Amino acid sequence: MSHHATLQQLLADPRVAKGPEHWTLYREGRLPEGWPLMTFVTVPGLTTSDGARHRRLRGLVTQALTPRRVNELAPAVRQRVLGLLDDLAGAVGPDGSVDLRSRFAYPLPMDVIGELLGLRAEQQDRLHELSDVLVSSSAVPGASAAAARDMAGLLAALVAEKRAAPADDLTSALIAAREEQDRLSEEELIGILLQLVVAGHETTLNLVCNAVLGLLAHPDQLALVLGGEVPWSAVVEETLRRDSPVGHFPMRYALEDIDLGEVVIPAGDGILASYAAAGRDPGHWEDADRFDLTRSPIRHLSLGHGPHFCIGSVLARLEAETALRELFTRFPGLRRADDVPPRPIASFLSNSVSSLRVRLS
Ligand code: HEM
Repeated sequence: MSHHATLQQLLADPRVAKGPEHWTLYREGRLPEGWPLMTFVTVPGLTTSDGARHRRLRGLVTQALTPRRVNELAPAVRQRVLGLLDDLAGAVGPDGSVDLRSRFAYPLPMDVIGELLGLRAEQQDRLHELSDVLVSSSAVPGASAAAARDMAGLLAALVAEKRAAPADDLTSALIAAREEQDRLSEEELIGILLQLVVAGHETTLNLVCNAVLGLLAHPDQLALVLGGEVPWSAVVEETLRRDSPVGHFPMRYALEDIDLGEVVIPAGDGILASYAAAGRDPGHWEDADRFDLTRSPIRHLSLGHGPHFCIGSVLARLEAETALRELFTRFPGLRRADDVPPRPIASFLSNSVSSLRVRLS
């Protein structure tokens, strides 16, 4: 679904579900072997469950990501950003440029979610490599499933470590919830960790890159924010709308025939949320392609809507706003290293660029 109004309606429609058992193609085994999106449809956890089960799983994770808990992380997030900006300055190559994506936009959200989950640095890097394969649409058939299996193996090892030596992190808290109240199966535990790792960093990474690209391509808008005429939060929201970090998210299913006027979605059909398209819907947004920080209010759908609304939205906004503010404060002369249009990521889910070479001054 790509129209803003229709997508908004379907995301909160009780006749729409996320459990794959409601999808005719899945139930009848008609999905092709090695289909790259299979993990997103079948991984047990928040994004593939409905009703009471979904609320139970969601409740376990929400506690760690309440606005209060996230706001307590603000000083640590800022410190991490400042450290990464030092590293960025040190990583400038002989040609005077540096890749902002791999050197700044990636390590920030990965470190933050890694810290929340209690991951070590080498575990983070391996999980990122695997997660890139998982979200890539160019992967060879079966590569995505293999990456998901490897991720699950790594996360099972993490769970074993935390079981032996519990710490003050979300993984240990989820294990305790599983063992004390038996509210979480081992499969669900691994599935939730996998979803948190992927959703917790691939998205914010894209958001920071897309925002930097938007600002550098629109010096008039950058001047507005540097001059204090619009807040950094406006950059985050306008980027979320115009260049949604999640292009499409699979999958939802019609529980009964859903009559949308022009079209009827038959019961058992799949519904794909096209967040990137909804953010540019010309029927909803005035001059939808324009990067305009003075739009108000910006009620986009790029963090979802309804029962599956993004659980990490407060954290994502905090990370992106801090990253952008500190980046442009430290390097006010930041500019693209060349005029070549950056290459989009070959992905059905991730909507951003595969690298972003910049000069810091
Ligand atoms: C800019 C950053 C982010 C964007 C654009 C984003 C976007 C989204 C969207 C669109 C959904 C709804 C998916 C659907 O059902 O169609 C979602 C759900 C979710 N997000 Fe995020 N997200 C971001 C950051 C994060 C972070 C930082 C975390 C974790 C710390 C996170 C964890 C999740 C989880 C677990 C769900 C599933 C919720 C559920 O099904 O109940 N996200 N996100």
